[in-house]
Amino acid sequence: MNVLVTGGTGFIGSHTVVQLIEAGHTAVIVDNLCNSSVKVLDGIEAICGKKPLFYKADTRDRAALQKIFSENKIDAVIHFAGLKAVGESVKIPLEYYHNNLTGTFVLLEVMKDAGCKKMVFSSSATVYGMENEAPFREDMPTGATNPYGQTKRMLEQILTDVAAADPEWSVVLLRYFNPIGAHPSGLIGENPNGIPNNLFPYIAQVAVGKLPCLSVYGNDYPTPDGTGVRDYIHVVDLANGHLKALEYAEKHTGTEAINLGTSRGTSVLELVHAFEKASGVPIRYRIVDRRPGDIAACFADTEKAKKLLGWKAEFGIEEMCRDGWNYMLRQK
Ligand code: NAD
Ligand code: UD1
Repeated sequence: MNVLVTGGTGFIGSHTVVQLIEAGHTAVIVDNLCNSSVKVLDGIEAICGKKPLFYKADTRDRAALQKIFSENKIDAVIHFAGLKAVGESVKIPLEYYHNNLTGTFVLLEVMKDAGCKKMVFSSSATVYGMENEAPFREDMPTGATNPYGQTKRMLEQILTDVAAADPEWSVVLLRYFNPIGAHPSGLIGENPNGIPNNLFPYIAQVAVGKLPCLSVYGNDYPTPDGTGVRDYIHVVDLANGHLKALEYAEKHTGTEAINLGTSRGTSVLELVHAFEKASGVPIRYRIVDRRPGDIAACFADTEKAKKLLGWKAEFGIEEMCRDGWNYMLRQK
């Protein structure tokens, strides 16, 4: 298949592009590089021996998208492009709504004009909001506590409506849990600019000495050790889930929301200790107050992914820490 990957130089997109190429598909990337670098293309080439076709463009730029569709016969789109920092979305909501929503509207219109009606969309476990209790199942009601989460929830609804109005559309809404780790080669991974918001990159930066100490947000949650529990998933497993979703979209029409997680919960301190073991570096941490908006435990029910996609995560926390550390060492 010829697959357009929006946000394909980003963290999850780049790992998915590698797997697309390795599976014999052709990947075309569009990315405005607002949160990634063109150097990622070299990493992809070094891993799979092929450089994907790359367009530096914004998904809101209709003419640029039309050019891509006129120059390539695109069979399906995997739509990663979007802004994703929760805290930032509270400060600059308009940018988040405009980027994530308008970018998707323009993309959908251009796809429709080109007769391309298959999309795999990056949603998030954030759509389960704060009212549900883990394990999260796809049929639970959705909610959102910040503009970023709202964009995911709204886009899920919009894509569902588009597919309901035209029976030729096929849409898979993938609800990711907490993607971490890196490609085992260490050639691509995640190394955010500035101070990371998420736990794994924060731990990694403490380990390499870029940051002095991890703040653990609360140890009084109703969890085994009192710290927050999350469903961490190796980014390579997650990327593989996209290939399965693409196969599913080829054979089915309509919309399906599907969790991509492991169904296993890991606490903050368990992750810290696993990282220490993988790296051999002690991680300094201190317990601080809870972070507003955090829930005690978030992990997936993964039965639907097994049943519909024939997919399940293969890697455990150990491999996630090993590969994430290997990547960090190459960034120094
Ligand atoms: P990322 O920031 O590494 O990748 C997103 C890419 O999209 C970046 O390369 C960025 O430059 C590009 N981009 C953003 N807006 C664009 C636009 N308007 N036009 C063109 N390119 C644009 O993020 P990621 O972690 O790879 O996440 C990919 C997707 O998965 C996002 O939609 C994100 O919301 C979603 N998601 C991520 C996580 C996570 O923890 N990483 C969890 C759940 C959902
Ligand atoms: C966060 C987002 C969520 C998004 C997800 C994507 C928030 C409130 N939620 O989820 O919307 O879908 O990322 O990956 O930002 N922690 C610390 N110290 C830190 C950082 C985190 O103790 O410096 C704890 C948190 O309290 C939480 C766990 O580590 O218990 C994981 O946090 P994080 O990596 O930010 O992910 P989520 O909160 O699950």
